[in-house]
Amino acid sequence: MSERAQFVTRIGAIAATVGSAVGLGNIWRFPYEAGVNGGGAFLLIYIGCVLLVGIPVVVSEFIIGRGTHKNVAGALKQLAPGTKWHWMSYMGILASLMILSFYSVVCGWIIEYLFQAISANLSGHTAMEYTEMFNGFVGNPWRTVLWTVLFLCLNFLVLRRGIKRGIEKVANFMMPVLFLILLIFIAYALTLPGAAKGLKFLFVPKFSNISPKVAIGAMGQAFFSLSIGLSCILTYASYFKDTDSLARNATIVAALDTLVAILSGIIIFPVVFSFGMQPEAGPKLVFEILPNIFQQLPGSYIWSVMFFLLLFFASITSTISMSEISITFLVEEHNLSRSRATMVNTGIGIAFGTLCALSFSVLSDFTIFGKTIFDLFDFVSSNVLLPLGGIFFAWFVGWYIDRRFVDDQLTNHGTSPKSVWRPVLMFCIRYFAPCAIIIIFLYGLGLFDAIL
Ligand code: PHE
Repeated sequence: MSERAQFVTRIGAIAATVGSAVGLGNIWRFPYEAGVNGGGAFLLIYIGCVLLVGIPVVVSEFIIGRGTHKNVAGALKQLAPGTKWHWMSYMGILASLMILSFYSVVCGWIIEYLFQAISANLSGHTAMEYTEMFNGFVGNPWRTVLWTVLFLCLNFLVLRRGIKRGIEKVANFMMPVLFLILLIFIAYALTLPGAAKGLKFLFVPKFSNISPKVAIGAMGQAFFSLSIGLSCILTYASYFKDTDSLARNATIVAALDTLVAILSGIIIFPVVFSFGMQPEAGPKLVFEILPNIFQQLPGSYIWSVMFFLLLFFASITSTISMSEISITFLVEEHNLSRSRATMVNTGIGIAFGTLCALSFSVLSDFTIFGKTIFDLFDFVSSNVLLPLGGIFFAWFVGWYIDRRFVDDQLTNHGTSPKSVWRPVLMFCIRYFAPCAIIIIFLYGLGLFDAIL
């Protein structure tokens, strides 16, 4: 068998993992979740979820992935031989395909808007016209499906080139550019007249806003944003070198991911307040409201092109990571060639992505449990499958596998210095994270409604 691929440099491994974590979840979803859930209160709980639940689950996935250097099913088979625990990997693979399907639709919208921005069609309209433009576009079955398919083909091209020449190279180029664009936007947003109001909304918590609903939103957001619970981070960690420090990598990834979410808030809220808009606009914030705002800024052309380019970079580095789960699985467990496996992944993405894209037009009346296919995929994956996966990974590492294996991974076989944080981390993995996820998960399913 040929030698298994690894990320070439430590920076490359971190860039790829941060690329997975930083995506629409940070730039599109975080600001509107914070907007509808009361700003500062949401941010506070969100940070708590990242520290006490997110990082422990990231480390758990890292331990399984880097400790075995295998795809998720292979890793679980190695660590729990002769048991059925590897069946849990199918849940993660299912979640990854569901997320890929609806995520690619939004990525399709982004390419359409990038294209419109480049062709200078995103300026000179009234607010009403931007809304009509967005509704007209998402309601057009052909155009949305076409862009979704095109996006998945771009995703395919990166993935087919493999770990080093595809994923790592793209991340090494796109992530620094992404940070640069963010910084340019921040410098500008902070000079706007509504900056103070926007920052206050984001950073000053109103404690009356804290409720179970905010907590559920914050935890779901933390899972989605950190790409955890579906073995995406596990798969990337299987390409880490044995000398990388897992706890340090996890902290860097979580910190940068949270930073980008906060930076997006620092950009979006001042801009929104300066133009007299409301931050509760929800998912359409980015597509209906921001283009209208950009056109009122000096140099509007460049702002809108840069913004949609930023979204594009953020999203494609995420979709390649969710695709990699099933690709590595097919290559290692079913002996498919990488390009065949990538084709299968893209084919499934196109089939289900099309159904999701059509949820806004011809299939808008087709609902299951009152949700369109797009909403159902989003709900089931983020609110059900990811938390379940998170509980499983934390429990598996905290209780099931041999403690020596865990310690070996955390200390790089005893070579790294002792850290005071390690017991805290292990406590969170074993007790805090699983309990917190279960409680919030049950709240989310409405099981406490009768009692409270
Ligand atoms: N973390 C990505 C984001 O914030 C989404 C994602 C979820 C990526 C699951 C991979 C796996 O947009």
